[in-house]
Amino acid sequence: MIDFQKEDLLFLAPLAGYTDLPFRALVKDFGADVTVSEMISSNALVYDSKKTLKMLEKSPNETPYIVQIAGNNEEIIKKAVLKLNEMDGIDGIDLNCGCPAPKVVKHGSGSALLKDLPKMARLIETIKKHSTKRYTSVKSRLGFDRKIPKEIVKVCEDSGADFVTLHGRTRSDGYKSDKIDYESIKEAKSFANIPVIANGDIINLSTYKKVKKITDADAVMIGRGAIGNPWIFYQIKNSLEFVKKEKIKDIVLKHFYYMREFYGDRGVALFRKHLHLYSKSFPNASNFRDKVNKINDPQELIEKIELFFD
Ligand SMILES: Cc1cc2nc3c(=O)[nH]c(=O)nc-3n(C[C@H](O)[C@H](O)[C@H](O)COP(=O)(O)O)c2cc1C
Repeated sequence: MIDFQKEDLLFLAPLAGYTDLPFRALVKDFGADVTVSEMISSNALVYDSKKTLKMLEKSPNETPYIVQIAGNNEEIIKKAVLKLNEMDGIDGIDLNCGCPAPKVVKHGSGSALLKDLPKMARLIETIKKHSTKRYTSVKSRLGFDRKIPKEIVKVCEDSGADFVTLHGRTRSDGYKSDKIDYESIKEAKSFANIPVIANGDIINLSTYKKVKKITDADAVMIGRGAIGNPWIFYQIKNSLEFVKKEKIKDIVLKHFYYMREFYGDRGVALFRKHLHLYSKSFPNASNFRDKVNKINDPQELIEKIELFFD
């Protein structure tokens, strides 16, 4: 299902608030191999939150599709896994061990698990034991406030994870650009017996090549580099440095079409943040942003998009 022998194996990273079904459908059109849901709270899943169930939906072109859950309680994780078992079309369950957000860390979830490796191990074991899905995986940072890449890999392997993704920063590093550390991912990869996926700051073909060369990872995962730039997967697969600007209009319109299909009229407001990023490098972008922020009518928005990106 996931072919870790494949050259240029590309994952889309989970980005809460961005990598929803419409965006994931779009990157699949551009050749992303594996997509991951936004982080789903195990608690919300257990309590059948309507919003959460909607977040779990997948596009027909998303195979393999991984659902990422967050939590710190074995019983709740187990119940969440049993719920996911009832849903078709999910190929794996990923445990979030990287989220740095204070409200997540305060609950002992996300990157807080990197301070309690025995707990992290129990949670992975719980998923592995109860899940009927093909894959159990982990997405992690390099540590909480110190780097422990080998320990993390060992915990994942010993607890039954099938692969692990490492974002090359600790929780304390936040998203600081000077803190990205691919050498530690390489250290983890050379030690690991399961596939390791490298993540962090891949924004184009050359950064992709650099990360693959340094880390020797089995695959890479791309997050922010795909927002406003979903064709990055096509560029990497086809070794292209640039994409022709005239294609962008059709891509933006297609993305908006997917948004409306999934969210109805709510898609107009939700699409604004994407439009801000699509328009970033164009002249008059700030003027365009101000205009689209006030538009609520889908047809009017389509006209503005056609005019601006022409
Ligand atoms: C807005 C935003 C939302 C994110 N949401 C998630 C999430 O839901 N689950 C997760 O594991 N990581 C999440 N991350 C972390 C990314 O998946 C990724 O590890 C990080 O951004 C570094 O990779 P990148 O430089 O390719 O973006 C998020 C990051 C950002 C900026």
